[in-house]
Amino acid sequence: MPKIAITGKGGVGKTTLAALMAHIYAEAGHKVIAIDADPAASLAYALGMPDDLAAKVTPIAEMEDLIYERTGAKPGTSGGFFTLNPRVDDIPDRFSVQYRGIRLLQLGTISSGGSGCICPESAILRALVTYVILYRDEVMILDMDAGVEHLGRATAKAVDAFLIVVEPGRRSLSTAANIQKLAADIGVTHCFVVGNKVRGPADRDFIQGNLPPDLPMIGYLSASQEAIEADLRGQAVFDAAPSLVEEARQIVAHFDARIATS
Ligand SMILES: Nc1ncnc2c1ncn2[C@@H]1O[C@H](COP(=O)(O)OP(=O)(O)O)[C@@H](O)[C@H]1O
Ligand SMILES: [Mg+2]
Repeated sequence: MPKIAITGKGGVGKTTLAALMAHIYAEAGHKVIAIDADPAASLAYALGMPDDLAAKVTPIAEMEDLIYERTGAKPGTSGGFFTLNPRVDDIPDRFSVQYRGIRLLQLGTISSGGSGCICPESAILRALVTYVILYRDEVMILDMDAGVEHLGRATAKAVDAFLIVVEPGRRSLSTAANIQKLAADIGVTHCFVVGNKVRGPADRDFIQGNLPPDLPMIGYLSASQEAIEADLRGQAVFDAAPSLVEEARQIVAHFDARIATS
């Protein structure tokens, strides 16, 4: 079961791709766990989850009592003693919601310390994601932000690949190159690029021409009015943008083939 982390600069389309891939794997009959690891959580909406269900997802980092119970320290503290391998095996089932064959977990924001901090919240989130990757027999789609360092080495090494989303523009491409370096530093084995919001051949050429040579492309998603409208209406991209779904299916097929042969 593939374990995929999606990253890239803000606004490039990580959540859009994460939602498309989650629905595609679920439709194919796989169990899917989608983890919203972006502090600006929005995956529930991209999946098309109704508001009342989305409201039931509690960010794990905000569960102070649970964090205290499991780590022995209160969130927001650092420097004291707490366990780095808290029990997390019950968390995915207890604190997620399910929608159309997709289980959604939300990690929430770690307020103290900044990236790479060692605090009770980061300990529990790292343990949780690592547990999901290593022990749950599901496809995992991790919707992240551009800061990959806080994943931690054990988690990063366990994912099958990072999909780095870019759009035609220098900023997201330079972010992609940085992510690739950080990812290599923390032990990620594969990085692939998905070009999003592509308006035509010139955009594809631009992306291809501005990528580091050792960062392979795995597919493109076209710029789509339907994707924009799905976001406006709170509809699943999967339902509202059939042409993007077709493109995302090809990305999934390429990804599965690359991972199977590696
Ligand atoms: N292929 C696309 N065509 C048009 N708009 C898109 C496309 N992909 C994403 N968007 C829009 O861009 C915005 C940011 O997308 P989102 O997936 O939330 O990015 P991220 O998660 O990287 O911040 C959203 O309004 C989304 O609807
Ligand atoms: Mg997002």
